[in-house]
Amino acid sequence: MAEIMKVSNISKNFGGIVAVSELSFDIYEGETLGFIGPNGAGKSTVVNMLSGYLEADSGKIEMDGVDITKKKPHERAHMGLSRTYQIPRPFPELTALTSVAASALSGKKRYNQSFEDALVEATHYLEFVGLFSKRSILARDLTFFELRMLELARALATTPKLLFIDEVMAGLNPGEAKDAVRLIEQAKGDFGITIFWIEHVMAVLMEAADRIIAIDHGEKIAEGTPQEVVNNESVIEAYLGRGWKTYA
Ligand SMILES: Nc1ncnc2c1ncn2[C@@H]1O[C@H](COP(=O)(O)OP(=O)(O)OP(=O)(O)O)[C@@H](O)[C@H]1O
Ligand SMILES: [Mg+2]
Repeated sequence: MAEIMKVSNISKNFGGIVAVSELSFDIYEGETLGFIGPNGAGKSTVVNMLSGYLEADSGKIEMDGVDITKKKPHERAHMGLSRTYQIPRPFPELTALTSVAASALSGKKRYNQSFEDALVEATHYLEFVGLFSKRSILARDLTFFELRMLELARALATTPKLLFIDEVMAGLNPGEAKDAVRLIEQAKGDFGITIFWIEHVMAVLMEAADRIIAIDHGEKIAEGTPQEVVNNESVIEAYLGRGWKTYA
């Protein structure tokens, strides 16, 4: 399988804190790669570096064979990279439809698409995530679940090749969580997206992930199939304990 992203020895320090240390891994085209580890392990910092919101202190990030280590977030977005946030970041004063339309425009390399066309595209993505009936509601008036779905619609509207998901399940009830997983799997199939997925609910990644990478203290501690990783002693010790199967 071809690599869509190649990450070589990236590190990040915050003051004296080593958040990510000499981390290397590949993301293969078409896969769902799970990314796990305890709180503070450095998962979001990795996504921030890969998507360009934080500059890596050292190391190299390549996408489709191009060195993107120094590229800005919008440049990476134009190459087909998108993300969702651990905590939703809506534009509170925009309607759901306008928010998604803005994302549709921002994902384009050339800014010659009309806003009317972007609105039509946005409608499609709002329908996809089940928010069509909320299209005229201001983001600040949406429920938490609806905000999460709006995030997903905004990410998809940029037509990514590679989508980073930073904890879509947090704060959702089991029914909502199931809907969210179903939509992500459907998006992957319908739009042919490669997915890099941070998630604390192991049962989700056991189902959805082709491979999983586990990190602790900013370093890789395991990489393999979901079965291999959940049975890895270092992963059990650092993160899972022995009771993860009790997650519903
Ligand atoms: N902007 C920042 N400034 C200072 N320290 C930071 C910053 N962002 C993250 N850190 C620190 O870096 C380490 C890794 O944090 P990170 O948010 O990447 O962990 P995480 O694996 O995403 O955790 P969680 O599962 O709780 O979301 C932590 O010690 C955190 O406190
Ligand atoms: Mg995080």
